[in-house]
Amino acid sequence: MTKTKRIGINYRKTMLSRDGETFEIGKFWHPIIDSWNPMYRDITEHFDFHKYTCPRPPISLGSIDELVFQDCSDVLRVPIKWGGSNEVRLPKELHSLKDELVRIMQYDRHINPFFTDFFAHITLDNSEVKKDKTQRYPGFHGDGLQGGKFPKKLICEHSYIYVNNNPTEVALHPFFVAHLNDSRYNIFKEFDKQVNRELLYQTIPGHLYLIDPYVVHASPIVKKTTKRTFFRLTLTPSELLMPKNTINPMFEGQEYPARIDVREFVADPDINIPLEYYGLKNRRNS
Ligand SMILES: [Fe+2]
Repeated sequence: MTKTKRIGINYRKTMLSRDGETFEIGKFWHPIIDSWNPMYRDITEHFDFHKYTCPRPPISLGSIDELVFQDCSDVLRVPIKWGGSNEVRLPKELHSLKDELVRIMQYDRHINPFFTDFFAHITLDNSEVKKDKTQRYPGFHGDGLQGGKFPKKLICEHSYIYVNNNPTEVALHPFFVAHLNDSRYNIFKEFDKQVNRELLYQTIPGHLYLIDPYVVHASPIVKKTTKRTFFRLTLTPSELLMPKNTINPMFEGQEYPARIDVREFVADPDINIPLEYYGLKNRRNS
């Protein structure tokens, strides 16, 4: 019997109903929070591996009551807005998210010139995390990193994330990965090799954060078995086509054909950083 690599997280399948609310996200002015952060520029540009050399902290958009998320069914990358529209379709099982979603998406419409063209997907995971395990993807990664699957890089996706305890760990130092062939090597494994755990920043539990693909982060290993709430709203230039996505019956035409996870083909990086490529050769000799 062939042994297959186990990739991804366990997920309970949710069936949502056709009943729900439809509403438009309006255009409003809002002060830009931490407007100095390069994320506001990078989410309007095509993905570029060189940008991992410029660390940036995630942007806190304030606290949210955890009950908003705990009153809902769990979902995985369920689409709630289609590209080309400002209309959100929210099945009734997700109703308690509505006010926060409106607030977040109004902010996004203000900062994101592509808001109308982008798709929006949400993930909600209220689960028990066992001692010494992680709730989400283990290891350092960037949400929306465009690897070998994207020979032509697209405008970056960005996400708004929330956890109520055991905060996300963020690495605030440069990563050097642009020399790697992204269709041959697993870039996430290179992040694990390069990460300096002395330079980790932790998000504030109960706060919502804006992140782009260059915020290198990890779901923490919990020290004792804990119930944890995780929420993510992703704004993306193309629909996230993953077979395990939760279906939103308020939209037609969602088909997620079976596919092989790209991580099954890529190898762990086994080459050293060519520092001269980054203009850092002298540092190695000093
Ligand atoms: Fe992530």
